[in-house]
Amino acid sequence: MDKIRITGGQRLDGAIPISGAKNAALPLMIASLLTDETLTLANVPRLSDVSALSRILSNHGVDRSIAGKRIGQSAETGQTIALTARQIVDTCAPYELVSTMRASFWVIAPILARMGEARVSLPGGCAIGTRPVDLLLMALERLGAEIEIENGYAIARAPRGLKGAEIVFPKVTVGGTHTALMAAVLAQGTTVIENAAREPEVTDLAACLTKMGAKIEGAGTSRIVVTGVARLGGAHHAVLPDRIETGTYAMAVAMTGGDVLLEGARADLLQSALDVLVKAGVEVSSTNEGIRVRRNGQPLEAVDVETDPFPGFPTDLQAQFMALMTKARGTSRIRETIFENRFMHVQELARLGAKIRLEGDCAHVEGVAKLTGAPVMATDLRASVSLVIAGLAAEGETTINRVYHLDRGFEALEAKLTRCGAQVERLSG
Ligand code: EPZ
Repeated sequence: MDKIRITGGQRLDGAIPISGAKNAALPLMIASLLTDETLTLANVPRLSDVSALSRILSNHGVDRSIAGKRIGQSAETGQTIALTARQIVDTCAPYELVSTMRASFWVIAPILARMGEARVSLPGGCAIGTRPVDLLLMALERLGAEIEIENGYAIARAPRGLKGAEIVFPKVTVGGTHTALMAAVLAQGTTVIENAAREPEVTDLAACLTKMGAKIEGAGTSRIVVTGVARLGGAHHAVLPDRIETGTYAMAVAMTGGDVLLEGARADLLQSALDVLVKAGVEVSSTNEGIRVRRNGQPLEAVDVETDPFPGFPTDLQAQFMALMTKARGTSRIRETIFENRFMHVQELARLGAKIRLEGDCAHVEGVAKLTGAPVMATDLRASVSLVIAGLAAEGETTINRVYHLDRGFEALEAKLTRCGAQVERLSG
């Protein structure tokens, strides 16, 4: 299994191109199931989650073609993928495939909407918490589907089609909102989604569905209104920039010191996280080309943070921010409110010398003068990349095991860091 070896202590200086967002690309790819015409997606990141979802979609009958290289493109430029679900040949998504990636459960909505039936394996456990799908199934039931759970599968049936309804989510759920949207666009009549997720990835999905002919109002607010249409067509859509990758590299620069332009990044997608970095003493400015992050000798100050649905501080940046706070002046309190078990990185950061005390959903991070390298590993991708950030600032060598977590969500990680002066290499094994 591959490892990443980091020799810490180098500043980061230069430019990092920001990739298309994994968490937008996945639902956009799934939306291809809603039409028999071709959905062409540009700026799709080269990630193992994208490849895994491609395999799952091809099992349902989706043809895929990837555009060849173009002048001026580098390995870090996203790919353009054309997806065509001329016919859905299989309405079942089996356990072997769904268990590799939770988001693939979302295929239940477009397959049900188009075929009147879907049988999708329940995704099972997850390293960051229990992550149930009850609210996704509730949304489909509200639209008239009959749901049965049998042998580990959710079976959804709506032989006479889905019907518009009011869906009120008791808590904000990104996957629930994606599911409701993809089912409602082909339902008869009007659907109102209340307490909808406002994440930029939801807005991106709605924008793409609109290009495909859907009628959607209010995406990006907590009330989305969908007027169902009889059919959707093909479209071209470019995936929005990855706000979590942006925030991750911003925190890496804050950690090591330096001056980096995050090319193509959009500040409006992660303002809350940028505000926190400014409070911590980091210089952040938005330019036409992206976001510039600088720290030249200023000390890092401890800042308290609580994760929240968008536009709050993202749970997907909590681990990275904790890594940063291990070297801040003072004690930072980091509260995780979205997932109940998303502190798996704490013990690994402690191996590098971090002082962190856990108390329920809150981590108290007491800044230390130095971290020292060690072998570490993590159980999910954001936790893994938090160890990369800590390793960049630790004295000596840090080896990160289970690199496949990083490959799920960070395109060309070593190349992007290396070109800014970091000493990072992949060891195959
Ligand atoms: C998405 O997961 C992201 N995944 C996650 O990113 C992200 O952490 C999360 O949203 C929150 O922002 C993708 O987009 C592929 P939720 P999702 O439904 O949709 C509870 C990463 O590292 N809930 O918004 O699965 C749930 O347990 C990943 O890229 C229910 O109770 O998250 C959680 O506490 C990790 N019942 C809360 O809602 C349900 O039926 C929010 O989860 C569904 C969710």
